Amino acid sequence: MKKIIVTGGTGYIGSHTCVELINSGFEVIIIDDLSNSTIEVLDGIKKITGIKPEFYKIDLANAKETLRCFDTINNISGVIHFAAYKAVGESVSLPLKYYKNNLNSLINILETMQGKSFKNLIFSSSCTVYGQAEKLPVTEQSPIIKADSPYGNTKQISEEIIYDTINSTENLKAISLRYFNPIGAHESAEIGELPIGEPNNLVPYITQTAAGIRKQLRIFGNDYNTPDGTAIRDYIHVTDLAKAHISALSRLVNNENKTNYEVFNIGTGKGDSVLEVVNTFEKVTGIKLNYKIVNRRPGDIEQIWADTSYSEKNLRSKTEKSLGDALLSAWNWEKKYRNIT
Ligand code: UFG
Repeated sequence: MKKIIVTGGTGYIGSHTCVELINSGFEVIIIDDLSNSTIEVLDGIKKITGIKPEFYKIDLANAKETLRCFDTINNISGVIHFAAYKAVGESVSLPLKYYKNNLNSLINILETMQGKSFKNLIFSSSCTVYGQAEKLPVTEQSPIIKADSPYGNTKQISEEIIYDTINSTENLKAISLRYFNPIGAHESAEIGELPIGEPNNLVPYITQTAAGIRKQLRIFGNDYNTPDGTAIRDYIHVTDLAKAHISALSRLVNNENKTNYEVFNIGTGKGDSVLEVVNTFEKVTGIKLNYKIVNRRPGDIEQIWADTSYSEKNLRSKTEKSLGDALLSAWNWEKKYRNIT
């Protein structure tokens, strides 16, 4: 059984990926500092898979702790590195917190890997690296433009750090997955997205409004140059996104990669507006959402969606679930978590 380290494995995308890894026959070891997740997530993973992954509470930005932790684990086949801070707005007010954590943790992992025999790394990148692209949909060759936030910049710099390190290190291989907007929850509703405090992201805000925790959803702007005036994103079911990690990992483990560093878009290839998301949520759940249109949110781009042809062909990764499936699963998770019948 191949042993995979999953950093940030108790987080939103990390936990769903752990489930898919276990279901695909991998042994999962989670490293997380629990700064934005809870230890109970391990119970959720166990309920779904029957297996509670081994867990280490480690600050990966600390080089010594990182090396000591990796030293205790034998026969590692690869690392999937999710652990990072991800609140775009907070990164603007606390840039050093983001640079320090997101970059140091990556550097420590790469440095550890240079001295060890396991050579496969999957990195969580983001479509934020494209900014507001001039041409849509975006391909992996679309230009990278200056990031709007320190958070986005950490993703761009991280990709460069990985590229440079791979180029100078024999045998080291990596794949960066550029995620579009992950939403939804595992079909069992045992794990899902659990933002701390007021959600920043659209779908948790919708489900918390439907659950009565938030009074009203604000739709940020209806004066964009889009068919209904609201902004467009490519929303991918988190389970589909999680499965893309298995394809990427298998590609590295089986030496199917074309070059030692590869990048793939992971989205659905379809854009939906904020109003389409709201309408679809109302349709699949039968719940009327209380919402109002307000001004645009600073820093938001108008529209983006992925060209997925390269990842579909090379990763054999294709999304299976619809926007409605994803929104219903998000609602089922919210209901279960809040004990709503
Ligand atoms: N939106 C609302 N109301 C809300 C929240 C969001 O109208 O309460 C709108 C936003 O203005 C945007 C769309 O819903 O048009 C999606 O917003 P999200 O905050 O859910 O997602 P973003 O596209 O802004 O950002 C997400 C992640 C980032 C990541 C980025 C690109 O939050 O971490 O995708 O990958 F960098």
